[in-house]
Amino acid sequence: MLVNRRILLIITGGISAFKSLDLIRRLRGKGALITPVMTAAAAEFVTPLSVSALAGQKVYQDLFNLTDEAEMGHIELSRSADLIVVAPASADVMAKMVAGHANDLASTLLLATDTPVLVAPAMNVRMWHHPATQRNIVRLSEDNIHFVGPNQGDMACGESGLGRMAEPMEIVKTIDQLFMDMDGKKPLSGKRALVTSGRTHEPIDPVRYIANRSSGAQGSAIANALLSAGAEVEFVTGPADVAPPVGVQVTRVQTAKEMLKAVEAALPCDVAIFAAAVADWRVVVENDSKMKKENGKLPILEFAENPDILSTVAHRDVGRPALVIGFAAETDNIVKNACAKLDKKGCDWIVANDVSPETGVMGGNENAVHLITAQGVDTWDRMGKTKVAERLVQKISDVMVEE
Ligand code: C5P
Repeated sequence: MLVNRRILLIITGGISAFKSLDLIRRLRGKGALITPVMTAAAAEFVTPLSVSALAGQKVYQDLFNLTDEAEMGHIELSRSADLIVVAPASADVMAKMVAGHANDLASTLLLATDTPVLVAPAMNVRMWHHPATQRNIVRLSEDNIHFVGPNQGDMACGESGLGRMAEPMEIVKTIDQLFMDMDGKKPLSGKRALVTSGRTHEPIDPVRYIANRSSGAQGSAIANALLSAGAEVEFVTGPADVAPPVGVQVTRVQTAKEMLKAVEAALPCDVAIFAAAVADWRVVVENDSKMKKENGKLPILEFAENPDILSTVAHRDVGRPALVIGFAAETDNIVKNACAKLDKKGCDWIVANDVSPETGVMGGNENAVHLITAQGVDTWDRMGKTKVAERLVQKISDVMVEE
């Protein structure tokens, strides 16, 4: 996505300017062409020599440099780029952008252009929270300036809070995303996703079955978010209270065995998300006719274990999706049980949630989840199922774009 993209990288003054070196390295690694610009303050934090060595390009620093003007005027410099990135963006450069100042090369370039601009703010936490900066951010957003960060954390000045520059990898992802938007492409365009959803009904006789309380809301929300991200979605669903989203390829099933068959028929895919609440057991022999009460004699049902669809797909030698995601609905020791499940089922990520009756998750609109990956446990605040789905799909897009 970044091959041969021309990025004008403006580095302003701040301790995080050292991270811009890594940013340049990563962008060039993805094939982008970097033209670096540094303010006088930036050159106090990193040397123009390091910047130009990594960028493989000369660094532009002065507004009134006749050689530069002869080679390429500042107007031309800003217009020849596909994207302008300001990283780190100081409080000062943002204030200048708001006011339309043009008293150094960086501010002049930013004023003389109609190229999209992304800023990665970096400053002390109090500077960030100052009403002037907050006002400027609103104004810049109104001017269609894009933002990435700042992040929360410890600062070089010893304070802690919002104001750290976004990590280079995060900035690269945002740049990737911006180019995709500019091209009218979506992060999962061209990717095939499979979602299992709903519950299963395991028949006892023609009128009775074993089921659970899953509504299918989370699975439908995930399928919807995948569609919005541009993926082609195969949706294998058992009975559910929520309709499948318009635009997915739906296969309706009743039992776990049918769901496994439908899932295998829907492969190959790039990402598979197993959100269905599959019954663990089925009745060995389904009665052909309705079972009758017989003078107080109780029926004895013999159970067999259902195939584990997630585990079967995750353990495939051939045609395993690149990313396999399972759910772990737990009522006790949520994270511990979910970590064990990640290992046992062989999936890449587990979305673990507490489904104790008092949480209202089963059948409700909200979910409080932990995302468990090889990198660790990420605990999300309780939020709507749609938001959980969007955040999960954002994570999926991030790793798929990285591939
Ligand atoms: O073992 P447990 O049911 O807690 O595992 C939950 C995860 O495994 C969910 O992602 C669910 O969709 C999947 N699963 C499955 N087939 C089963 C049982 C669970 O795909 N038979």
